[in-house]
Amino acid sequence: MVQLHMIRKIVDVKSPILREKAKPVEKVDKKITQLINDMKETLRIQSDPEGIGLAAPQVGKSIQLFIVNYEGLERVIINPKIISTIRSKKTVKKTHKKRVLEGCLSLPHYYGPITRAHSITISYLDENGNKKKETFSEFQAQIIQHEIDHLNGVLFIDHILEQKSPLYKFTGEEWEEVELI
Ligand code: CO
Repeated sequence: MVQLHMIRKIVDVKSPILREKAKPVEKVDKKITQLINDMKETLRIQSDPEGIGLAAPQVGKSIQLFIVNYEGLERVIINPKIISTIRSKKTVKKTHKKRVLEGCLSLPHYYGPITRAHSITISYLDENGNKKKETFSEFQAQIIQHEIDHLNGVLFIDHILEQKSPLYKFTGEEWEEVELI
């Protein structure tokens, strides 16, 4: 059977839906499966910049679902619940030094360093509706936290402001520090 994918439009940072609290997915039905397939394709074709995660609110659906595809970490995560996070003193120091610049497809070309929990354990449903429990660490934990934020109406720039971190714009040739207004 031929599977058809529809490329979904990624909403802009100013879109109100990005500030809503997403509703849980009641059932992983055909409609959800279609949305997942569309989101996978939408994420796959992003090239400027490339994306590593995409949450349903970013394509205009305020439901608790996101996908991640980064260096072998390929997940569909539905209705995630945070079981625990680890932010040990020692780790925070280490992470702080290695803080990876974070960005978002809803605010392309802007990046900033954010300190997040070093590891996170969540329960969730996968794309087949099976219950899972999984722990993610380091950069993977950062991605998962970024995407869970999307389901709670939180954007990475909120952390930038809170942590008084710099924000940079990458023009394709150079990095320019910008101010968040
Ligand atoms: Co994002």
